[in-house]
Amino acid sequence: MAKDKKVLVVGSGGREHAIVDALSRSERVEKIYCAPGNAGIALQAECVDIKADDVKGLTEFAKTNGIDLTVVGPEVALAAGIADEFQKSDLKIFGPTQKAARIESSKEFAKKIMEKYHIPTGSYRTFTDFNEALDYVKEGPLPTVIKYDGLAAGKGVVVALTYEEAEMALSDMLLDASFGEGKVIIEEFLEGPEFSFMCVVSGERVYPLAIAQDHKRAFDGDKGPNTGGMGAYSPVPFISEEVRDEALIKVMIPAAKGLVKEGCPFVGVLYGGLILTNQGPKVIEFNARFGDPETEVVLPRLESDIYDLFEAAVEGWDCATRWNPEACLGIVLASEGYPGSYVKGSEIKGLEKTEGHVYHMGTRLDEDGKLLTAGGRVLMVTGMGHDLQAAHKAALKNVEAIECPTLFHRSDIGHQALKN
Ligand code: AMP
Ligand code: GLY
Repeated sequence: MAKDKKVLVVGSGGREHAIVDALSRSERVEKIYCAPGNAGIALQAECVDIKADDVKGLTEFAKTNGIDLTVVGPEVALAAGIADEFQKSDLKIFGPTQKAARIESSKEFAKKIMEKYHIPTGSYRTFTDFNEALDYVKEGPLPTVIKYDGLAAGKGVVVALTYEEAEMALSDMLLDASFGEGKVIIEEFLEGPEFSFMCVVSGERVYPLAIAQDHKRAFDGDKGPNTGGMGAYSPVPFISEEVRDEALIKVMIPAAKGLVKEGCPFVGVLYGGLILTNQGPKVIEFNARFGDPETEVVLPRLESDIYDLFEAAVEGWDCATRWNPEACLGIVLASEGYPGSYVKGSEIKGLEKTEGHVYHMGTRLDEDGKLLTAGGRVLMVTGMGHDLQAAHKAALKNVEAIECPTLFHRSDIGHQALKN
């Protein structure tokens, strides 16, 4: 096939860097643009200065530059209606419409889909009134899970171990309206190991990607506040083929079919955040996009051409994927203070001494070409190996090569799999 496709990737994080990197291995892609991109992405794609949620600007760019396919990374672009607008303009886009993306943006919508299509998840109730919510919590067991219904950058979930913690979370979300006026969902606490199951979905077609596991808490031992994710690895040895197939058949396929039946067919990556309970896998959340940092450890293992996969999803064709059996493990280097406030602008050195993939999550170059930190999560440093131990070793070696005084990382990524 001719290497003649022009692709636009929307976003500026490690996830988008991994997508750009996978596209750069494609036999079919001639040119990659990324809007707005970052300092690392700029080494593999032409970065264009258009914000991820500037739907009008991105539509114009795709039209005037003859883009064959646009791939959307972040939820902000989906929530801004990028897929709807592109479709109206007859531009091909890999990413769900606003209506389909409600599976992530509205937890209540996601719960309704799960209820209607018998997808296993924790029992729940929705509240807008603080006192009613508090009464419900007091009558129920602990721990209990309190979720703000809407996009809250991964910070809208509190697993309350005590009634006081639950009361504080409810007061924060319903009385102080920290994330805006809204509803909360109080959910049954699910026990078991968590895993991330991303599938490329095209209407009723579901193509599973390799399973990964993220680490949400900021510090070693799964301590500290929830973050966007501090590291990930793939494959996940304690998720057997049988469990994966069960998750595919009981969760991912019914969700894709359900969205078709609801009149909002999904095209893009449907991400199942799952817990393997003793009654099988259950859903804690769906996302309407590639996970970050899971994508950075899953895509390096994809051996087949990612452009074929994106194209198949957009066109509604069949497509097979091929995976490298090696393991990939990635460690996030984050700015001290993250997920709270943190400093930006520290110089990063030593990247040239690393081997394999170091994905940039939040970096920029200054006028003198120095690489600086520019976000909470700064780099996703990966390693590959014949097993997870070897991948962990390779990732840590890369981390040690990087010098920056204001970055911290977890040293126990993969601990649930490595301890055995
Ligand atoms: P979310 O933002 O929905 O991914 O939730 C953040 C984290 O809270 C998850 O990664 C889980 O560790 C935890 N969590 C969310 N919902 C539940 C639940 N129902 N049971 C147990 N843990 C949960
Ligand atoms: N790593 C979790 C997410 O992308 O939401």
